[in-house]
Amino acid sequence: MSVAQIADLMQLFGEPTRLRLLVLLEANELTVAEITTVTELAQSRVSTHLGRLRDAGVLRDRKAGTATYYSFTEATLADDAKKLWHAARGALDDGHFASDRGRRDALIRSRAGAAWPEAFAGEMERHYSPGRTWEAYARGLLGLLSLGDVLDVGSGDGAIAQMLAPRSKSVTCIDRSEKMLVAAKARLEGQKNVRFQQGDAHELPFEEHTFDQVLLFNVLSYAHKPARAVSEAARVMKPGGKLVAVTLAAHDHSELVASYQHVNLGFTEAALTKLLKGAGLEVDHVGVVMREKREPHFHVLTAFAEKARARK
Ligand SMILES: C[S@@+](CC[C@H](N)C(=O)[O-])C[C@H]1O[C@@H](n2cnc3c(N)ncnc32)[C@H](O)[C@@H]1O
Repeated sequence: MSVAQIADLMQLFGEPTRLRLLVLLEANELTVAEITTVTELAQSRVSTHLGRLRDAGVLRDRKAGTATYYSFTEATLADDAKKLWHAARGALDDGHFASDRGRRDALIRSRAGAAWPEAFAGEMERHYSPGRTWEAYARGLLGLLSLGDVLDVGSGDGAIAQMLAPRSKSVTCIDRSEKMLVAAKARLEGQKNVRFQQGDAHELPFEEHTFDQVLLFNVLSYAHKPARAVSEAARVMKPGGKLVAVTLAAHDHSELVASYQHVNLGFTEAALTKLLKGAGLEVDHVGVVMREKREPHFHVLTAFAEKARARK
């Protein structure tokens, strides 16, 4: 891209009203009249800026009857434009344009002619509703758990252990990083059923048949020998014990993950299944459970497996 093209793009994104329109149109498509209502700007001003963005190929428009709907998705931007957009978007937080968002959501609800939440039936996860967050739900689901002796392999700073400890007999955090364990101890201070141990996932310093549940949460990406790490997890599980892994699905973003010190490029479902079966575990589920919203849209796998109970 030439210097002139870069400067043009910076000018495109560098205008407050255009920035505001792009943020507004990120999540929903709106007509000019609707945008005018939401922003309380003059229609001529809105049209001028929309025209400029559309001509630059940044906005999409769709005709439905007499109305034209405008929307914006960064996926259609060229790579350089995407970088500039990320820089601008990343500097904005939820506080910016909050009233636009409130008015837009109210307008969409009235457009559907239905009361919340019926207006968003079938797509609720794409819209904000007070208190309805994944974190709140994850914390609510903890109420269903009653865990035994849990091993959190690559526990990091103890965020998961903190959630599970009140629902577990014991939680053992193991991590190769002393610094992480110091942070985990600080986070879990006073939680009497949590233990901390420095060690390597490839060579767990525990006897076999020690744990009821073993977690491998975003640690397999750091394993030079994932088969060995999974086998070690299986070894220390009690018969009937369960293993849960969360890890990236296979991808080709080596440069991006190198900056996070990942040593592999994720796992296909087949490869992860093979690792679990190779460790002698019974596989209950392996599958992609989500696509990240942010670029490059990593897919995340979860795997659940069990160690066979001893035959009587
Ligand atoms: C991305 S963090 C995930 C932390 C935590 N599991 C979570 O999901 O919040 C990865 C952690 O794995 C640890 N780790 C990486 N390789 C490891 C290994 N071979 N043995 C033990 N811990 C390891 C790192 O030190 C880091 O704390």
